[in-house]
Amino acid sequence: MSDVFYVTTPIYYVNDRPHIGHAYCTVLADVLMRYHRLFDDETYFLTGVDEHGQKVEEAARKRGVDPQAHCDEMQAHFRDLWATLDVANDDFIRTTEPRHAAIVQEALQRLWEKGEIYLGEYEGFYSPRVEKFFSAEELVDGRCPESGGEVFRLKEANYFFRMSKYRDALVRHIEDHPDFIRPESRRNEVLGFLARPLGDLCISRPKARLSWGIELPFDRDFVTYVWFDALMNYVSAIGLYRDDERFRRLWGGVHHLIGKDILTTHSVYWTTMLMALDLPLPRHIVATGWWLVDQTKMSKSLGNVVDPLSLKDRYGVDSLRYFLMREMVVGLDASFSEVAFLKRHNYDLGNDLGNLANRLARLVQRSFGGRVPEAGPEAGPDAAVRAQAEALPGEVRRLVLDLRIEAAIETTMALARRINRYLTETEPFKAVATDPARAGHVVRHALEGLRFVLTLLWPVMPRKVEALLREMGAGGPVRRVEDLRWGGLATGAEVTLAGPPFPRFEVPKEVAEPAKSPAREEPGTPTSATVSYEDFRRLDLRAGTVVLAEPVQGSKKLLRLLVDLGEAEPRQVVAGVAQHVRPEDLLGRQVVIVANLEPRKVFGVESRGMILAASDDGALAVLHPSKPVKPGSRVS
Ligand code: MSP
Repeated sequence: MSDVFYVTTPIYYVNDRPHIGHAYCTVLADVLMRYHRLFDDETYFLTGVDEHGQKVEEAARKRGVDPQAHCDEMQAHFRDLWATLDVANDDFIRTTEPRHAAIVQEALQRLWEKGEIYLGEYEGFYSPRVEKFFSAEELVDGRCPESGGEVFRLKEANYFFRMSKYRDALVRHIEDHPDFIRPESRRNEVLGFLARPLGDLCISRPKARLSWGIELPFDRDFVTYVWFDALMNYVSAIGLYRDDERFRRLWGGVHHLIGKDILTTHSVYWTTMLMALDLPLPRHIVATGWWLVDQTKMSKSLGNVVDPLSLKDRYGVDSLRYFLMREMVVGLDASFSEVAFLKRHNYDLGNDLGNLANRLARLVQRSFGGRVPEAGPEAGPDAAVRAQAEALPGEVRRLVLDLRIEAAIETTMALARRINRYLTETEPFKAVATDPARAGHVVRHALEGLRFVLTLLWPVMPRKVEALLREMGAGGPVRRVEDLRWGGLATGAEVTLAGPPFPRFEVPKEVAEPAKSPAREEPGTPTSATVSYEDFRRLDLRAGTVVLAEPVQGSKKLLRLLVDLGEAEPRQVVAGVAQHVRPEDLLGRQVVIVANLEPRKVFGVESRGMILAASDDGALAVLHPSKPVKPGSRVS
């Protein structure tokens, strides 16, 4: 049964280089596309870059280059990364391309003529970090409710899209289509958002303030709001208003993959825009979770980015793709660490898959002239192994359609482990001497099973799988899973694999226990030798507000704190005060931090500073400023 599978990723801002968060979403799209190819669907895969708006303009200005030159340069980093990660996108759209801008203007003109857009006055707060407007009530402590970043008060004439009038129709659509927004928790989030009053959407920016955008076709003094422009990429790329037949065919099968932070723009802005344009709503919007490091979202602005390229260079593209897909449950957050990565690589790929292939290749080369032996009659556990392999494509398809990629991989790897067990049970290494025909049959049986494993891992690790299929005598990849038949392996085909396909790497030891803190001075003991004022000044002491306080899992003594020091993001600090103060007593209070202490890992959690406390007979009392001060105030 063939279907159309049109998959999109968000188009990424070119204010910075790509990081692992972008890589995850793009690789997920690629893996889904490849699974659907195996299932014989017609596939189309679109990704690209979001080049307009304040963020990008500012990034260009900071670098002292013209915005277009900046975009030309940055988009290449994304394209290059996708190519090196074996991402096989069909198209790569840039919002500065004329083919896109023309469609955005045409859509705006149509909406204007239909009365869906009107001129009004905007008053509110603008958050450049997420390129969105908020009302005073929506702000949190005077800052952006989504990013915690700075907001600016604005009052200006602007054009508005009549979004509010589509609210009821949208709620009905979401209620009638339970799998429209996935996972369900996100669907509920959107319904919750829509339960509150919905305003109209400001879709313009006066050129006087921002010129880096697509001009409104009906008022040259304004450019289009970057989200209106960006969302249109999903339709401009596939022929809206240009090739109706192609557009309708692909649009009918569209799956938008997005991060959970851009759920509202897709589920509310985009869907209502489509309604106003008389276009069908997308089939699925799938919101994924975030890759976290020490509970914090990985992104460039946090300076905690692991460059995906560096992992690929050290350990291989396929291992990286495997890790990203196996470790994250689509829709939930996952923690990234190099240790977790290396463990997956060693256990799953090195042991379960790599050893199996290598063991079989050595056996074939040593005892069967390097060629796939003949099949004999089935006996013992043979039928069970075959049955598990033959059931695999159906199982994987069911799981993939349910977006349970990690489970699809796990089910596939379970077959690899079953075949390893089969070899232990049947001992072909020994049987070669006594019953070579049976030994040959067993080896061939295991090779057949391995072919199923590899084929169903092809979407995840295309490069390695293609090589391994060749080296294990199974030719190129099967095009469709339907063609995967037990017994399809050619007798006499050469097995050329020359060594372990996934060499193991040493896993560095994790810090399991907190490093011993220096013994606290007892009260009454004489103070230490004097230090110079200059030495004292080398300590950067700051006052900040505790915005999160919680116990560190598995530790009685430690609390994890997030402290607002007036920096872009709150600081994470681990403090050994859990037996002296309750988290709720610290929350919202101000503390003093040694802000330039070398970061270190405590109980696996990174601590970037230390809070000051007085020690009275071992009882700790946390220091607080005597009156509230601006977060980040220097203490001296
Ligand atoms: N340009 C907009 C999207 C417009 S789509 C019409 C945008 N770009 S972005 O570059 O900031 O982010 C793109 C995607 O990357 C988002 O879906 C976001 O969730 C994802 N990620 C950014 N950091 C991430 C992680 N640490 N982990 C996983 N994905 C995250 O938003």
